[in-house]
Amino acid sequence: MATNSKQSVHMNPGQGETSYAQNSALQKTAQDRMKTLIEEAVTGLCTSSCPHPKNMVIADLGCSSGPNALTLVSAAVDAIHRYCAQHEQLPPEMCVLLNDLPDNDFNAVAKSLDTLKHSVDEALARPTAVITGMVPGSFYERLFARGSLHLVCSANSLHWLSEAPEDLKKSRIPMHDSDEQLRSSRHQIVADSYARQFRKDFMRFLSLRAQEIVPGGRMVVSLLVKRSDKPDTEIIQPWTPAVTALSDMALRVS
Ligand SMILES: C[S@@+](CC[C@H](N)C(=O)[O-])C[C@H]1O[C@@H](n2cnc3c(N)ncnc32)[C@H](O)[C@@H]1O
Repeated sequence: MATNSKQSVHMNPGQGETSYAQNSALQKTAQDRMKTLIEEAVTGLCTSSCPHPKNMVIADLGCSSGPNALTLVSAAVDAIHRYCAQHEQLPPEMCVLLNDLPDNDFNAVAKSLDTLKHSVDEALARPTAVITGMVPGSFYERLFARGSLHLVCSANSLHWLSEAPEDLKKSRIPMHDSDEQLRSSRHQIVADSYARQFRKDFMRFLSLRAQEIVPGGRMVVSLLVKRSDKPDTEIIQPWTPAVTALSDMALRVS
């Protein structure tokens, strides 16, 4: 998948039948698998920082909207509370920041962030603070102040590239050709180009976050991958007509 932050690309907003909020159970499964890693990252952060940090900044990159937008940051907040309760420490002041592209449904995110703030306040019988904020922009650009983040999370988002590979755009080679023969003869060129673009984008993502994360900070990310570059016929086959139409539309606007 390729996006350009200047383009209007976003998951379906709102709460309706076709919204991302109502159609993201699969992604939620991937997020749930990350909870143990987030717990480990929090334990690592709390045990390695001496003195105990007075504040912690947690960010989710590519949060989208709906229930998934809060899953990872809530897991981190809960893990910090658990760690502090077990070690009889006061929880640090926490700041939760949610990022996505500017056309994301941030109105819905704002409402759910308010719930997060209050549910934490109510659950604890002592004063605690969760400061919340939204950071619209591309994670392929600088988003946060230098050395400000303690924990960065991201689920199901980093396979969105910053753009389609330049060489394919120049030679007008679509990601998915409707002509089956052309598609299979160009398969390797297309796969290699997308792999190069991913490497370039991912390196950029890492070097930007390296500037924004505090020394000893942690990052927990998950993204969709394939184990081999062979076309996945079983997965692709049912989608072929849709992929062909989308590819055709993308070629017309590029
Ligand atoms: C499949 S959704 C995943 C949402 C959520 N993290 C989850 O696991 O359900 C991918 C999200 O990444 C966002 N995204 C894609 N490229 C991005 C970029 N360059 N910067 C920030 N967000 C991006 C999309 O707008 C979309 O909301």
